[in-house]
Parts: sequence; structure tokens; C-alpha cells
Amino acid sequence: MRFATIHKLFIFYISTFSIASIAHACFAPHWDVYVTNTISDNIVAHIKSKNDDLGNHTIPFNGNYHWSFCEALFGKTLFYAYFWWGSRFQTLALFDEKLEEAYCFIEDLRDQYCYWFVKPDGFYISVSPDPNGDNVHFIKPWQ
Ligand SMILES: *[C@@H]1O[C@H](CO)[C@@H](O)[C@H](O)[C@H]1NC(C)=O
Repeated sequence: MRFATIHKLFIFYISTFSIASIAHACFAPHWDVYVTNTISDNIVAHIKSKNDDLGNHTIPFNGNYHWSFCEALFGKTLFYAYFWWGSRFQTLALFDEKLEEAYCFIEDLRDQYCYWFVKPDGFYISVSPDPNGDNVHFIKPWQ
């Protein structure tokens, strides 16, 4: 009886632990990147890396598109995007070593976050989800 309970607890512990490790089995930091549209109109975002094509996504006003990944070792991760807003267009890097180190990386965290805000005057990046906060940095205008 007692043994059975301990055994069950043990199995529960092992499976919980494994699921948690599988979810975030990264050697380098795990990143969540959000692209929020603050333009009162739909925009279309097409995000890619060398290995992944995340496809075209329509992001409505105040909506966001989000994806996550394990950073590759040796700073090789690159995600870039094409954006359309009516007749406006722009292409830019959304994640690379320079951007994350300059704007998003927090020392000693395994789970890291980067936030992009698409505004009428261009593209902004921040370590925090507040589009009007102190850490919001202008990166590029629309073409
Ligand atoms: C993605 O959307 C843009 C803008 O609407 C369009 O020009 C382009 O052809 C689309 N690409 C794909 C693969 O659907």
C-alpha cells in the first residue's frame, strides 16, 4: 500500500519532470517573440528563418503574432520578416544576436522575451510588452 503510493508519486514526478524538460529542452535560452500591430488597420507579416517559414499572417489592430524557439548556439539564429500595410512594405531582421543582446537579453534567464511593435511610423523593439514603456526602441521606418 505504502510502496504503491510512493511508486505512483515517483512516476508522477518523473513524468512531470520529463514533460517540463521536453517543453523547454534548450541548450541556449528559449525565446518568445511577439509582434504587435498598433496600427488601426490590418497588416500582413511573413516571418522566416533559414529553416522555418512561418508563413503569411494577418495581424489585426491591437492583435499580435507570436512564435518561440531555442536560440542556436554561437549566435546563429536569424529570423527576418516581410511586412505589408496597404501599399506600404518593409523587410527587417526580427531576431539576431545583435538585436537580442542590445534590446532583449536579460542575464541568467532561461526564458527570454522580445516584443516588436509595428506603428504607423515604423518598427520598434522592446524587452517589455508595454508599447509605451521606457524600453521601446525605434529600429526602422516603413519604406
Ligand atoms: C503574403 O502576403 C502578401 C501581402 O498581402 C502577398 O503579396 C504575398 O503574395 C503573400 N505570400 C504568400 C506566400 O501567400
